[in-house]
Amino acid sequence: MPKLSIEASLDTFTAKFAKSAAFTRAGKQLIPGGYSRNSFNFGPHAVFAASGDGAYVETVDGHRLLDLNNNFTVNVLGHNPASVTSAPQNAIPSGISFGNPSTAEADLAQILIERIPSVERVQFSCSATESCMSAIRIARAHTGRTKVAKFEGGYHGFSDPLHISSHTPPEQAGTDEAPRAVADSGGVPADDVNNLVVLTQNDMTSTERILRANSSDLACLILELQSGAGGLVTLDQEFVQGVRALTKELGIVLIFDETISLRAGYHGLQGVYGVTPDLTVMGKIIGGGLPLGAVGGAAAVMNVLETGKVTISGTHHGHKLSLIAGAACMRALDREAFDKLNAHSARILSELNEWSLARGSSFKVYGKGFSHMAYGYMNAPGLEVRTHRDYWRNVDGAKTQIISLELANRGFFPVHRGELSLSLPMTDDDISSFIDTMKEIVVELEE
Ligand SMILES: Cc1ncc(COP(=O)(O)O)c(C=O)c1O
Repeated sequence: MPKLSIEASLDTFTAKFAKSAAFTRAGKQLIPGGYSRNSFNFGPHAVFAASGDGAYVETVDGHRLLDLNNNFTVNVLGHNPASVTSAPQNAIPSGISFGNPSTAEADLAQILIERIPSVERVQFSCSATESCMSAIRIARAHTGRTKVAKFEGGYHGFSDPLHISSHTPPEQAGTDEAPRAVADSGGVPADDVNNLVVLTQNDMTSTERILRANSSDLACLILELQSGAGGLVTLDQEFVQGVRALTKELGIVLIFDETISLRAGYHGLQGVYGVTPDLTVMGKIIGGGLPLGAVGGAAAVMNVLETGKVTISGTHHGHKLSLIAGAACMRALDREAFDKLNAHSARILSELNEWSLARGSSFKVYGKGFSHMAYGYMNAPGLEVRTHRDYWRNVDGAKTQIISLELANRGFFPVHRGELSLSLPMTDDDISSFIDTMKEIVVELEE
């Protein structure tokens, strides 16, 4: 009999987070599901936050947890960083909402243009979902083509054209060589599904065949260099180089969705890879904790916004407070900050994987070595996750879920599906206690 079981872990979780369960039940009388963001769910229900301070989140149940979720990678500086929160606070007395542009916009634009290699011009929205939609519209207008390509398992927000094939049920997904586009939600029109060309991560043969076959209709290919919400998969550098060369040859606009991977370094993950797309979508950290999305890219492609061929405008686009908080956050994220975050990530990856290998365990932590990683319990030692389908084939979802619940039960708050992101205030001791606890859980799982 293993020491840990899903039933026992759920029992501890529901007892420990009973107030959160009560808030979920009460919320369900008012809000479908109990809260507006489905991705909160941690198995039986979400864990409600009362406050946050540095690397820790305090739950309504009175537990202080090391926050490894960090609002799904947003809080790179942790909770309540004074340099960020003071910036919008100081700006509020002079008014928060105007029908005029604010000077804060060019300030953040300048920072992003200086840092992110592909970005010569940038346009802000309220979320990365919106900026992904904008990127597609820009690409369609620029090329005069309609179809959009993406990778199975990539997530680019919940808009109709893109909320497709991020979490495909295996039985509907088609073959490895010819994956099928499948809507991730009811209500997505069939036209959007038909316009979507699905590709397999890290498979150059099928990617090239499918892109060539559809090239005269394809406006763009949108990808995450390291995917997140659909399951963490890192695209190989050589694969991305091949995709860059091919899209250039075929006249397909290449869009990197760096909503999460901007965390990888001062120049984003595209800077690490040394590959420059035509457009880049940004989000999460660029708003410093307030809602903000952006699309940026080559002036020659972004020009359709300048000429008026493409119009995009939202009431709150480029909201002053988000821009001010975002600029403060990005300034705090200097090269040393990225070095510290990446050193902590490297330590987690090497210590846990070396330990796991030595004991012949199937447990694995994976990622590109920046502060957004995943853990999983594989079906056998040595198995890897190199495509979205490897989640169906190689990952033991039930054991991974036990690990997530046990982390929460023991004082840590990851993303329930097995992801974690770090924050700058985390100390060496925080990282040690996470590593020790993870080992403890895996040992109990294997006993
Ligand atoms: C890579 C990626 N693109 C787009 C989005 C959508 O961003 P938002 O939820 O801010 O609209 C997300 C959100 O998790 C994301 O991870």
